[in-house]
Amino acid sequence: MKQAVKVMVTGAGGQVGVDLVDTLGALAPPGSDPGFQPDERPVARGEFVVTGLNHRDLDVTDQSAVMDAVVSIRPDVIVHLAAYTAVDRAETERDRCFSVNEGGTASMSHAARSIGAHLIAVSTDYVFDGTKGEAYVEGDPTNPLSVYGASKRAGELFCTDRDTIVRTSWVMGVRGKNVVHAIAARAKSGECVRFVDDQMGTVTTAGDLARALVTLARERVGGVWHVANSDATTWFEIATYVGQLSGRGDDFATAISTEELLPPQLAARPRRSDLSTQKFSRIWSPLPDWHDGVARLVNSIERMSQATP
Ligand SMILES: NC(=O)c1ccc[n+]([C@@H]2O[C@H](COP(=O)([O-])OP(=O)(O)OC[C@H]3O[C@@H](n4cnc5c(N)ncnc54)[C@H](OP(=O)(O)O)[C@@H]3O)[C@@H](O)[C@H]2O)c1
Repeated sequence: MKQAVKVMVTGAGGQVGVDLVDTLGALAPPGSDPGFQPDERPVARGEFVVTGLNHRDLDVTDQSAVMDAVVSIRPDVIVHLAAYTAVDRAETERDRCFSVNEGGTASMSHAARSIGAHLIAVSTDYVFDGTKGEAYVEGDPTNPLSVYGASKRAGELFCTDRDTIVRTSWVMGVRGKNVVHAIAARAKSGECVRFVDDQMGTVTTAGDLARALVTLARERVGGVWHVANSDATTWFEIATYVGQLSGRGDDFATAISTEELLPPQLAARPRRSDLSTQKFSRIWSPLPDWHDGVARLVNSIERMSQATP
């Protein structure tokens, strides 16, 4: 029998982390498509042994704690998800943001190398400035506009060519806080919403991303990979679609510009940072279309809210 692959997941309490730990354990996370796996190999029970570490278990800013954890777990693969993700707050907490996103990734890369583990570090479309005018490919020059984006790019630079960097964008999971939860709640309560239609990007559901991370943990190919659900969209289109799924009419969502946002966003966002996932989908199946991903997500949020008294 083949030996189980040992995977250590940091940030296991975050929205991607909970879905990834479930997926590696051969459990379908809520909102994922049980039929979808980019390499068409469903996860078999016992294929992976997973150690999920949340913030309480391991503070990635503590360099020696990172080394101790890696040396004692001795994983074959580390999926590094732990991150400071409060994009606007980062503008006033620069040092804290950099110590997690740059320092934490540097420590993880160093520790992984010391035991010969393969590192998969998850990064963001916010490393780009959004001025390209078309979807970003892996080799495009970076130019982050925000502290968060700069800190994630600084973390990328500590990865070696043998490590895998997965850039993803607009992540939304069934568990954890995100915009789709907020829109679905408003749609249900009869309120209306205002969303910007001048920021374009690619949605990524946490369950579908988790499945792509499984494929990358199996293949362990180095380099940068863009992973997101297919087709670009705007926040206004997402809000309109969630409204439709919840039975709301055309008046549910109003399109506004970034300048009209109240309160204004502290961090500048790229106006167009959709990720081209062609490199990934030349080898494996592309992640499902964003409408499909968001529909599954809304369905699962609804089911979870019915199950929770
Ligand atoms: N969310 C997005 O739209 C998005 C887009 C592109 C890329 N990404 C990247 O995708 C990855 C996963 O994101 P996500 O959406 O799952 O984020 P998330 O829900 O915010 O989860 C991040 C996790 O990291 C933990 N964390 C923060 N500081 C830490 C530290 N010093 N040591 C250890 N753990 C720490 C957090 O714990 P506490 O909450 O307890 O602090 C949280 O559980 C991140 O690398 C993120 O940068 C996210």
